[in-house]
Amino acid sequence: MTTGPFDSLRDYIHALESNDRLIRIKQMDQDKFEATGFAYRLVKEYGYDLAPAFLIEKIKINNQWVNGPVIGNLFGGWNAEALIYGVENLGESQQISRIKTFKHLKKLHKENNGWPKISPVTIENQNAPCKENIVLGEDVDILKFPWLQTNPADAGRYINAATIFIEDEELGRNVATYRCQVKSKNKIGFNAEIKQNAWSFLTKMKERGQTTASVSIANGVDPITFTLGASKIAKLGEDELDYAGGIRGKPVEMVKCETNNILVPAESEIVLEGEIPLDKMEEEGPYGEMYGFMGLKKNENFYMEIKAITHRTNPWVVNSFAGVTKISPSILQTVGNFIDYKTFIPNLVDIYRPAESTGVLTASIKKDKSGQGMEAGKILAEKDFFAKMIIVVDEDVDVYDKGEIFQALGTRWQPYPAVEIIEKMRGMPLDASAPERFSTSKIIIDATRQLKDEGGPSIWPDISKVMLEEMSPETSKLVDENWLKYFEDSND
Ligand SMILES: Cc1cc2nc3c(=O)[nH]c(=O)nc-3n(C[C@H](O)[C@H](O)[C@H](O)COP(=O)(O)O)c2cc1C
Repeated sequence: MTTGPFDSLRDYIHALESNDRLIRIKQMDQDKFEATGFAYRLVKEYGYDLAPAFLIEKIKINNQWVNGPVIGNLFGGWNAEALIYGVENLGESQQISRIKTFKHLKKLHKENNGWPKISPVTIENQNAPCKENIVLGEDVDILKFPWLQTNPADAGRYINAATIFIEDEELGRNVATYRCQVKSKNKIGFNAEIKQNAWSFLTKMKERGQTTASVSIANGVDPITFTLGASKIAKLGEDELDYAGGIRGKPVEMVKCETNNILVPAESEIVLEGEIPLDKMEEEGPYGEMYGFMGLKKNENFYMEIKAITHRTNPWVVNSFAGVTKISPSILQTVGNFIDYKTFIPNLVDIYRPAESTGVLTASIKKDKSGQGMEAGKILAEKDFFAKMIIVVDEDVDVYDKGEIFQALGTRWQPYPAVEIIEKMRGMPLDASAPERFSTSKIIIDATRQLKDEGGPSIWPDISKVMLEEMSPETSKLVDENWLKYFEDSND
């Protein structure tokens, strides 16, 4: 079986395909937003977490058929995340793949006393696939690549799943994903939100008197490098690429850009090199964001003038379909958060933030004393920037199973007194429901069984499923072993 870690986007996609985790589509008409409609339907059919990736070979953009491939839902399905980190046994259920991947990453963290680090290495330009084609100056034309306009209400086409590299002698290197609106053949928007690292870099450079900042944008990097750029594993001042190397178990191979000194992954599909003016701003958006709303047009945003493009021959393009499909692998960040939160909540068993409902966090605890559910919820509300609804359940509830969460709410929870509302806390800037940007209210729902002194009943009967597991431990093993056979028998 082909499994990760992978050196390139292509190796990963080939592995997805050979593991039946990729839908290959000959052509789609994006002038009719067919790929977007397909992505919505895919998620509806499979669910957000389990929908597979898809690859479109040819796509119609502005009345022209353009060769792709264009890839969507690149990180769809727990099996895909298992592949990324080289976890075996993908034939099993997606949930088992997820649990194994979680354990694998937790072990990696424990054995290394933190996430392991391996520094990147620089290779010769002639060995770098991203240098197969070099386009400079007047010849630069990004319009010919199949970047999509995802929603008819978007401001236009977007480069929305690329990894952005900024280097600075004093500040170090920052690696991140920010959407870039395609504005002309050599100009793109640069949407680092306020307080993101690139925004801080650019602001400091400007304060220092610089008039431009060099930036390089790598499209189609290997999945672990992408994940490090899109997550908060590396803190300001740390290098995402050290962690990408450590988690891959081998260094990321980098290559120097043509028009600046920035290093980019040699295996990238397309690299855009350019400069951001620090004294001028432009309009950007609207754009369909991850919360499922059209993020409002911004009157003043950074933009970048493109000086060079280097790319593989017939490059592959990833579109994020933000707000429609999952935009980034999530298990690594969840493991990082879990380890952090567990130092404050020793009886924490599991956490989950459903990718489609960013503001919700479900957590299970092994409760043995009154007050522990609410206490855990308060710590999570404080520590988790994304979470505005924190649902705490007992350890027998699977926090990833929305049915079980609803069941716990409907059968174990009394709204009074097992709830607490926090009127104002730091919140996500993209949350369209918040009257004030960066601010949110929060609710903690303690759906653990409430003990008598917490206002609960004097007796809680035993849980039927737990009784089955305790009194007949062989049952679940028997059913697991025979699971496929039951269906074969019924097909005879
Ligand atoms: C597909 C995708 C698109 C994203 N677009 C943006 C964006 O436009 N602006 C932004 O500030 N963050 C965006 N993010 C989130 C950042 O990549 C993420 O917060 C990252 O940690 C930022 O890096 P930094 O901490 O170095 O600033 C996006 C993430 C993904 C996966």
